[in-house]
Amino acid sequence: MHPQTTDRPGQLTAAAPALAGRNLVKRYGAQYALAGVDIDIQPGEAVAIVGPSGSGKTSLLHVLAGILKADSGEVLLAGRRIDQLGETKRSELRRTEFGFVFQSGMLVAELSAEENAALPMLLAGAARGEALGRAREWLGRLGLSGKERNRPGELSGGEAQRVAIARALAHRPSVIFADEPTGALDTRTGRDTMDALLGAAGEHGAAVVIVTHDRDLADSVPRTVAIRDGRIDTAGGTA
Ligand SMILES: Nc1ncnc2c1ncn2[C@@H]1O[C@H](COP(=O)(O)OP(=O)(O)OP(=O)(O)O)[C@@H](O)[C@H]1O
Ligand SMILES: [Mg+2]
Repeated sequence: MHPQTTDRPGQLTAAAPALAGRNLVKRYGAQYALAGVDIDIQPGEAVAIVGPSGSGKTSLLHVLAGILKADSGEVLLAGRRIDQLGETKRSELRRTEFGFVFQSGMLVAELSAEENAALPMLLAGAARGEALGRAREWLGRLGLSGKERNRPGELSGGEAQRVAIARALAHRPSVIFADEPTGALDTRTGRDTMDALLGAAGEHGAAVVIVTHDRDLADSVPRTVAIRDGRIDTAGGTA
């Protein structure tokens, strides 16, 4: 599913975007969560989606990731439409092509750090030894050597988010989605976590879509797209 250009992100910009949304509309009754959004995310590119509460950031992320179906518009992964796929195919895509980091980790409390990080690979059918090995490798890169056997309750908030980052990356997705990944952390830890996320994604060549309403954090992401009332706000960012 990876386009042949993802090995060298940024080298062949004529290739299809890693992910694209075309004229996305999502309504809740009379309320437009998305009122016609177009967005292109290039392979390996990091984009921050910013905007006030209720502007449609999470809706956009969920529609792009296939968690939520838009009422109209298209979503393309490496140039191929994925919005019309059935739930089984979409959940398979979410497991293989996408990685997710949410506000407070959403780690499984009963599992160790390495088991949590290995989970998407195990669900995708990888052998346990190989999945745990790769999970440990990513935990090491994220500065968590020695904590592999700790359960989420035995980790700090920042450490738990780094486990979530390892989990999002270890199965080598082409796009990582992060919704307020630093929302539950203090400013300093939030910055470190953001750096860890961008660094790890960059190392792997994954594109990252980060939702945040923290403008300071968004400044550390190379590209910012502002959204307001369900539309791209061209005055507020560089869409
Ligand atoms: N399940 C739902 N049912 C009804 N309305 C919804 C639902 N989800 C979102 N909305 C509405 O859609 C709009 C966009 O919501 P969304 O969650 O995308 O905003 P957001 O930018 O992520 O906000 P926040 O920064 O507070 O997380 C809001 O007006 C919200 O009330
Ligand atoms: Mg939100």
